[in-house]
Amino acid sequence: MSLHALPQDKLSRLHEDALRQYRELQRKGLSLDLTRGKPGPQQLDLADAMEEALEGKFVEDSTDLRNYGGLEGLASARQLGAEILGTDSADVIAGGNSSLSLMYLTVLFAWQFGPADKSPAWKESPAHFLCPVPGYDRHFSICEEFDIGMIGVPMTGQGPDMDRVEALIRNDDRIRGMWCVPKYSNPTGAVYSDETVDRIARLGKTAHPGFRVLWDNAYAVHDLCEPAPILAGIGEACRRHGTEDSVIQFASTSKITRAGSGLAWLAASEKNRASFLRHLGKFTIGPDKINQARHSRFLPGLNAVREHMKKHAAILKPRFDCVLEILDGELGPEYGSWSRPEGGYFVSFDSLPGNAAEIIRLAKELGVSLTPAGSAFPYRKDPEDKNIRLAPTFPSLDELRQAMEAFVVCVRLATVKSLLKPAGHG
Ligand SMILES: Cc1ncc(COP(=O)(O)O)c(C=O)c1O
Repeated sequence: MSLHALPQDKLSRLHEDALRQYRELQRKGLSLDLTRGKPGPQQLDLADAMEEALEGKFVEDSTDLRNYGGLEGLASARQLGAEILGTDSADVIAGGNSSLSLMYLTVLFAWQFGPADKSPAWKESPAHFLCPVPGYDRHFSICEEFDIGMIGVPMTGQGPDMDRVEALIRNDDRIRGMWCVPKYSNPTGAVYSDETVDRIARLGKTAHPGFRVLWDNAYAVHDLCEPAPILAGIGEACRRHGTEDSVIQFASTSKITRAGSGLAWLAASEKNRASFLRHLGKFTIGPDKINQARHSRFLPGLNAVREHMKKHAAILKPRFDCVLEILDGELGPEYGSWSRPEGGYFVSFDSLPGNAAEIIRLAKELGVSLTPAGSAFPYRKDPEDKNIRLAPTFPSLDELRQAMEAFVVCVRLATVKSLLKPAGHG
């Protein structure tokens, strides 16, 4: 029988049960954290051998790596990025250490100076972005920083709801951009279908000429299962539709080698690259080429990257399995639903509408930190108050198990409490 159909006395008993478990956990004085979507120390160890890859050789392509210059990045670093993004190295700029910084600069340059086609700067008129939700909070923070309006578009298992996206683009001339995390989307884990990729590539035919899709392929090679799903090439699709200028791609090695000291890439049409480099050249004299060479020697091509990522998967898969085992074993559909990602960094949990903030509050009081309610939505407002992003990568397996066991108790307590309320027993 579903929870909703239970008589109040049975619900009261469930409530007492959950409360008793909750109080037992309170006595344990937990201090656990499920908020951080960052690699764990074991994963970071995997790239320690990179330190030896340089072998004291500081010259590449007749360039002294120790000196200024080379704004577009070393050829070997651009090649590595091209293989990860599935594009041509001529399309790629190997920038600094963070793809988020490259995205920020892309928005900043378009906002201040206008996109490459000389259409007006975004700041000249109220600019809006389409934001698939739930999505990546730092994308939304960039929009907020520039006062770019955000329009939420629901995610489906195939990517953003494309009927909605196309209708919005057709009817709203203010739309200048769209965020996309096309593979193992943060946080739902969805991989955009071939049809979705093709429809996104076609948007450039009807959208405002200054419209840009920011294609953040942060989890391009972060597979947990084999065979891994294959993401269709957005560059190829754009070439088919003659919309090359409408999409700018990004990736980094933050979750391949080192977070904060990896490599980041931007791939784009010739026009977009030229415009980006013109502004970038004022911002910096060039990237850290020593780090670029260290990376391209440690990971000489996609096969090496794939082998390296299998080692990450061996560390991460048991963590994701642990989360799913506890959710599957302890909660039924009457308590919510959750994603079953085949890669990436997150499990996305949807409680019954109206319960997410309370679950997060209950967990916090137990000493289990969860990402704040609404984080995955523009303006931090989850209209249904149901989404919770779980990040299993950083804690040890033991900590993760304890945190998840506490989490399910909080979900049960909040859910049963919410159902008791209408009868006045809450
Ligand atoms: C979707 C997405 N994009 C970008 C980033 C950050 O990338 P970087 O470290 O290259 O700035 C993250 C980090 O969690 C992410 O989840």
